[in-house]
Amino acid sequence: MTPNTMRIAIIGAGKGGIALLDLLHQIPDVDIAGIADKDPTAPGLQRARDLNIPVEERVQDLVHNHGVTLIMDVTGDPSMAAYIHAVKRPGAEVLSGAAARLLWKLVQHQSKLEAELFQADKLAGLGSFAAGIAHDINNPLQLILGLAENLVEEQNLGVVHEQARDITEAVKRTSAICRDLTRYARRNGTGEDVMVNLNTKLDEALRIARYAVTLQDVTVVKRYAEEAVVRGNPDELLHVFVNLITNAVQAIQNHGTLTLQTSVGPDGLVSASVSDTGCGIPKEAFSKIFEPLYTTKPPGKGTGLGLYNVMSVISKMEGHICVDSDVGVGTTFRIEFPQMHPTTSCAPL
Ligand SMILES: Nc1ncnc2c1ncn2[C@@H]1O[C@H](COP(=O)(O)OP(=O)(O)OP(=O)(O)O)[C@@H](O)[C@H]1O
Ligand SMILES: [Mg+2]
Repeated sequence: MTPNTMRIAIIGAGKGGIALLDLLHQIPDVDIAGIADKDPTAPGLQRARDLNIPVEERVQDLVHNHGVTLIMDVTGDPSMAAYIHAVKRPGAEVLSGAAARLLWKLVQHQSKLEAELFQADKLAGLGSFAAGIAHDINNPLQLILGLAENLVEEQNLGVVHEQARDITEAVKRTSAICRDLTRYARRNGTGEDVMVNLNTKLDEALRIARYAVTLQDVTVVKRYAEEAVVRGNPDELLHVFVNLITNAVQAIQNHGTLTLQTSVGPDGLVSASVSDTGCGIPKEAFSKIFEPLYTTKPPGKGTGLGLYNVMSVISKMEGHICVDSDVGVGTTFRIEFPQMHPTTSCAPL
């Protein structure tokens, strides 16, 4: 903690509390001392535990004990401001009433804009998927047509059964494509974090990225560690990997290798990396690639939002992303996920 660090207590763990947690925990020189809510089932309390932020049931325990410099009251309870003033340490400032509501609105606005940007990036990607999707759906459809035409004439019951089974398999393949794409395109669900298997997510992302980029001349190598599991939003993580894989394949241009790797360190630290043997990134561009709208791709090929969204998701999860690249040799993006904290409400995915 530096001398400039603000130590903030959040009172109220409803929507306002969650929005503040998500915003403030990313800001340097801001330390969240804790969050309090008299309702132990308030949704922000679980979010705080996920972020390893202390949770208190009694407001006075929070505002009095943690060297708090600013107290943000987002309860909407008109009597709370007077109560906080009565129990707080002298010197601690209070933000409540209309000022807290304005801040809450700004934070809400900011997270809505981020969600829109994230969705816009996904939908822009889907536009470029169209040719790949049409190709992959058309193949099983042609097969079904051929088999159905045969069946009209076929007398042998054994062959009829065999061809009916082939038709069923082809339909299943087509609906698997539709299921993958619908899952990818949908807006993120409740935003609740669950246990996500990174190997499964990387495989799913590879299937989706195939619609955007041709993998024909690309050798795909998978080096997966068992138990590469993190706590996070599955839809956001899918989008992260689709972006990294798409970038990698676009960088390869002709022949090359795409390596997808996960690892679990002895300390339980989980990481995932996407490497390519593509064109590489010049060192002077390293600081720019995560900026919104930075792209070196021709118009219509890239919007420059991919890595910006990747960074937003990873910093929201309190993870780290680093890039290692040599021009003409290739690039590796490596994500380190934060250590998980024990929790009771997670469902395996
Ligand atoms: N694996 C990679 N190899 C080489 N350059 C890369 C790689 N990944 C990213 N870059 C560089 O970083 C830039 C920004 O990437 P980003 O994914 O944010 O945007 P984009 O791919 O250009 O567009 P899109 O919004 O469609 O993803 C790219 O234009 C490219 O110059
Ligand atoms: Mg990209």
